[in-house]
Amino acid sequence: MKTILFQIEENQQEYKWMKEAAKLIRNGSLVAFPTETVYGLGANALDPVAISKIYQAKGRPSDNPLIVHVANLSMVEELVTEVPFLARKAMKRFWPGPLTLVMPRSTKVPDCVTAGLDTVAIRMPAHPVALSLIDAAGVPIAAPSANRSGRPSPTRGQHVVEDLDGLIAGIIIGPESQFGVESTVLDVTGQVPEILRPGGVTREMLLEIYSEVRVDPALESVDAKQIPKSPGQKYRHYAPRAKMTVMQGSLSFKKECALAALTENSGKGVVLASDELAKLLPDQDVWNLGSYDCPEIAANRLFDLLRMCDARNIQWILAEGYEEEGLGAALMNRMRKAAGGQVIKEEER
Ligand code: TXA
Ligand code: MG
Repeated sequence: MKTILFQIEENQQEYKWMKEAAKLIRNGSLVAFPTETVYGLGANALDPVAISKIYQAKGRPSDNPLIVHVANLSMVEELVTEVPFLARKAMKRFWPGPLTLVMPRSTKVPDCVTAGLDTVAIRMPAHPVALSLIDAAGVPIAAPSANRSGRPSPTRGQHVVEDLDGLIAGIIIGPESQFGVESTVLDVTGQVPEILRPGGVTREMLLEIYSEVRVDPALESVDAKQIPKSPGQKYRHYAPRAKMTVMQGSLSFKKECALAALTENSGKGVVLASDELAKLLPDQDVWNLGSYDCPEIAANRLFDLLRMCDARNIQWILAEGYEEEGLGAALMNRMRKAAGGQVIKEEER
């Protein structure tokens, strides 16, 4: 298949190709598009045949449900049996934005979108191009991250081209994603909201509107029997081909681990380190995650760096762990997943 590449130029206000891209969606084809979190692989959410193409192009397991993207609140109404009170509160404060709300689904939503669950995950993205695409298509757009299943999520148009060129009808290529990690998935069907995947809207931000916010205990558990409520969280995800380990502890502990790894294996591996740690290490084979006080920068760079590791055939990655506060929680969730749970902690030695 020849993939049409639609380019967004800087400061462009109108997109002459938008109608064509929207038509592809309406006709049941796949179009990848930028959002503020990561690039999404979009299809008409109400068309089961179009949805099946998403699973095929990504090589995605069919038990992993999709997020439906909307451009306005009336699109939400048709997808759910009711908009829970907890959801209304969150929409008012955080939409459009990196927050996905899990709500009771209506019969209009095809089974393949929700992987048979009785809930549907919905988000209104805060990206002008994503919003105009949904608007122009006139249908809600189901979109997982636009990577081949198991690879790091795409934060640049070029990443989507690497993974999906020739497999889908179109790719809208814009600047790099603002957040670089996916949206927060929040279950609002119960009495207390529960985070099923940490993301761009942090727990601390949610506590500004709710008195209590739970986190799915399976997210932090090492017990494989604890099954996460968000099916996607059970897969090894965001994974580079290299063997990755995350280190957690004091700066001196991380320095010691990094130096040991660098001297033993030089040339084959890399250390991903904050400015503060990088200063204590030799330049070579140390890649920068930005200031330790700013997990936003690390989150924004992580997936791109992991993809770079694949491109350069890196054999091992030692990544500096961050505090699990604010966006640090989402960053650490992605790092742990990319590392398949391999973490070395200071106190355990
Ligand atoms: O930022 C994002 O959320 C990006 C952009 C494109 O919007 N999308 C994204 O989609 O990350 P995906 O498919 O890579 O991740 C969707 C996550 C999966 O972990 C999936 O299991 C979960 O949302 N999910 C979807 N529907 C659900 C539901 N009804 N209940 C629980 N989890 C659900
Ligand atoms: Mg994904």
